[in-house]
Amino acid sequence: MALHPAIAQFNASIGFDIELIDYDLTGSQAHAKMLAQTGIITADEGEQLVQGLEQIRQEYRAGRFTPGIDAEDVHFAVERRLTELVGDVGKKLHTARSRNDQVGTDTRLYLRDQIQQIRQGVRDFQAVLLDLATHHVTTLIPGYTHLQRAQPISLAHHLLAYFEMAQRDWLRLGEIYQRVNMSPLGSGALAGTTFPIDRHYTAHLLKFGSVYENSLDGVSDRDFAIEFLCASSLIMVHLSRLSEEVILWASQEFGFVTLKDSCATGSSIMPQKKNPDVPELVRGKTGRVFGHLQGMLVLMKGLPLAYNKDLQEDKEALFDTVKTTKACLEAMTILFREGLEFKTARLKAAVSEDFSNATDVADYLAAKGVPFREAYNLVGKVVKTSLAANKLLNDLTIDEWKALHPAFEDDIYAAIAPEQVVSARNSFGGTGFDQIRRALESAQHRLASF
Ligand code: ARG
Repeated sequence: MALHPAIAQFNASIGFDIELIDYDLTGSQAHAKMLAQTGIITADEGEQLVQGLEQIRQEYRAGRFTPGIDAEDVHFAVERRLTELVGDVGKKLHTARSRNDQVGTDTRLYLRDQIQQIRQGVRDFQAVLLDLATHHVTTLIPGYTHLQRAQPISLAHHLLAYFEMAQRDWLRLGEIYQRVNMSPLGSGALAGTTFPIDRHYTAHLLKFGSVYENSLDGVSDRDFAIEFLCASSLIMVHLSRLSEEVILWASQEFGFVTLKDSCATGSSIMPQKKNPDVPELVRGKTGRVFGHLQGMLVLMKGLPLAYNKDLQEDKEALFDTVKTTKACLEAMTILFREGLEFKTARLKAAVSEDFSNATDVADYLAAKGVPFREAYNLVGKVVKTSLAANKLLNDLTIDEWKALHPAFEDDIYAAIAPEQVVSARNSFGGTGFDQIRRALESAQHRLASF
């Protein structure tokens, strides 16, 4: 009895797994070569299969191979077309193989490629951050904790913090690559096969780093997909945090950046507005990537060994994550390359108009031998009285300083100037200008290593 049309539609994955076709063809070519190599089919049959598969690749690229829903999935679609092209020998392709190990192979080949492309996307993003940081070593920006102004920092320091996050993203993708780069091909449906196949040969042809040791694990493992979704989620966390900052910076309240017209849109009704669409969309799209990670974890948690059709649901999550992560990396790269301008005058004012140099007054006293906690309490009082008098620390006269504590001398003014406050934080990894120059060099060095 034929499948109910709605059920056929429900079962089918061809609508999305056609995305895997190149990898399916490559995987099948390796399988065909192995069948010939081991004598399971003849060399001539092997050659016909490889050629036929190549012809399907050409047809697909030329837009002449467009399988419909009746094909169920990309694997059936290819096998059917192959048999049309090369005749009955096409029916031999699936000897000693199951769609279960086949789809696992395809997905890993796909993800392997995508990971390399996303890593490049991360590199491009890092290069733009680094370039911008190089131009803003001495540009100061308020540094925050609790979104309260804390201490001024170099803008380069702020940008380089994101460079470092991206560096970990790049490394992480490289690490999970190893576990994506394993061959399940030859696991069969679940238990291996009665044919004298050579799994190491197909793995070698497909440039896999290793083969799955256990056939049950080979067909049902999706850890590699979850790890990839995790790594992508972290990339999105980083992009989303930066997006949130750009959105704040672009607000009138902060006014730290202007968005250029190439990366911002106007409002359809409020002519004065310029909206930060790019970072808002990145922040928004982060949700769907997290969703795919969560979805995949839940998908796996109750699955008995080995293959279950539930696993077909992994594909859209992966495809959408790949597409979204790449697009967000690219958009943020463009935004930081040419889409925003830091308003240096506004930033300069921002670091001079507050009490973010208060720690430095305490440090000043502590350096002169006053116990830090005592100095801290004293400065707390200074800030309070200054606030009441509508004055900044810099506005206090030397007599006022001396009245507060005899250790204050004329050099207090230089010690609390924003440039000095930043420059003095020269501990390793701090915002001091010498540290920034060291950090830029280190970043440059790491960016160049592949
Ligand atoms: N389209 C299926 C998937 O994506 C291929 C494997 C089907 N295997 C099976 N035993 N029904 O998972």
